[in-house]
Amino acid sequence: MTTSSNPPNSVTPDQTSGMWGGRFSEATDAFVAEFTASVQFDQRFYKQDIAGSIAHATMLAKVGVLTEAERDDIIEGLSTIRSEIETGNFEWRIDLEDVHMNIESRLTQRIGITGKKLHTGRSRNDQVATDIRLYLRDEIDDILKLLERLQKGLLGLAAKNVNTIMPGFTHLQTAQPVTFGHHLLAWFEMLVRDTERLQDCRKRVNRMPLGSAALAGTTYPIDRAYTAELLGFEAVSENSLDAVSDRDFAIEFNAAAALIMMHLSRMSEELILWTSAQFKFVNIPDRFCTGSSIMPQKKNPDVPELIRGKSGRVFGDLISLLTLMKGQPLAYNKDNQEDKEPLFDAIDTVRGSLMAFADMIPALVPNIEIMREAALRGFSTATDLADYLVKKGVAFRDAHEIVGKAVALGVAEEKDLSELTLEQLQQFSDLITADVFDKALTLEASVNARDHIGGTSPKQVEAAIARAHTRLEQLYA
Ligand code: ARG
Repeated sequence: MTTSSNPPNSVTPDQTSGMWGGRFSEATDAFVAEFTASVQFDQRFYKQDIAGSIAHATMLAKVGVLTEAERDDIIEGLSTIRSEIETGNFEWRIDLEDVHMNIESRLTQRIGITGKKLHTGRSRNDQVATDIRLYLRDEIDDILKLLERLQKGLLGLAAKNVNTIMPGFTHLQTAQPVTFGHHLLAWFEMLVRDTERLQDCRKRVNRMPLGSAALAGTTYPIDRAYTAELLGFEAVSENSLDAVSDRDFAIEFNAAAALIMMHLSRMSEELILWTSAQFKFVNIPDRFCTGSSIMPQKKNPDVPELIRGKSGRVFGDLISLLTLMKGQPLAYNKDNQEDKEPLFDAIDTVRGSLMAFADMIPALVPNIEIMREAALRGFSTATDLADYLVKKGVAFRDAHEIVGKAVALGVAEEKDLSELTLEQLQQFSDLITADVFDKALTLEASVNARDHIGGTSPKQVEAAIARAHTRLEQLYA
């Protein structure tokens, strides 16, 4: 077999059969070495791998498996390797397959035989599971910060638009007037659930598989609680077979990421509609848009469009991970190496999308007059007229019928209900009096009347924003 493509990162091609030469009588085929390697993408968590190894060596010295001098040599060696990597002075070798063996091999090169003792009581199976968890834990913390920034941006924009009235839609048909602030708070609620989900998922990410070794545990007197404490894990895994094979935590994260992307995609869809010439509700500043190479007038909402498109990748990543796991017998199988790229892709995509949204939201400019004009069309206060009649003693179903007839007249005359005369309205019910125009048929009356927790009135939206700030403080405490 021959090598069909070059590895994406600077990785030196195959040389030997790596770390397990003892059992093998010929070197690994060069293509197989490249095909089975993961160092091209798992070098991404070198930091976590080194931190895990330092904690492992520290624990081994504590229980007397390593001497203190050996421990110190290992820690010093690993710290040097970390700076080699960070300054671009580390040679990643594909024949050493993955980040773990690259670093271990370099350690032995640097400090000699002591380097060969680091892997005592450990396997790459528990090592890799530990590394991904440490890595994902850090990424979750960064994603939570982005979510918080976006949530604050939404609250800021909502606060400026407590009194801005727009049409609310069902079936994308004008339904009832709402305040723009209320609409933005709906987006905020989606993201609060996303935060809760990620925080909950983090608890299950933050458990330590290290000590499970290859699958059955190890014969050395290890102190797992101590290693866990050093690495900031909340608990150690209970079952070694499960711990080396479990990737539920990655799937859970990806599911949470898929929901975030689904939410961002829905928001994107609304922004795309709202920025169109047909709606013109909102302007997205030029720096978030691009033009067309042929149509000079175009200003395209690229950022929301791209995020709507990118949601598909993250859903795909989730399906990849689920499918990866569904047929696997216990315990570790090489299949598991395929967990990384979908997970990284989901992380990168959700991070980029949240970053773009967090930057873009505070910069949105609503066209308040145009929103208001749109709310005045489409009979958005029809329900208010029905409620007005109910308050005068008409049964709701009858009121619905009466207003339906008034709307039909409005359609025929191309007039809003508020533009019909009192006499015209009274032909449908003599309970309608002159106060109908103030009490039911203005946009302000309509939104002000929805005055309860969760309602769209400016007063309620203001209170909801105040509560939201407190909730954010509690959420991110
Ligand atoms: N590169 C491997 C992975 O990502 C590390 C664990 C390999 N273990 C093994 N027994 N081959 O899963």
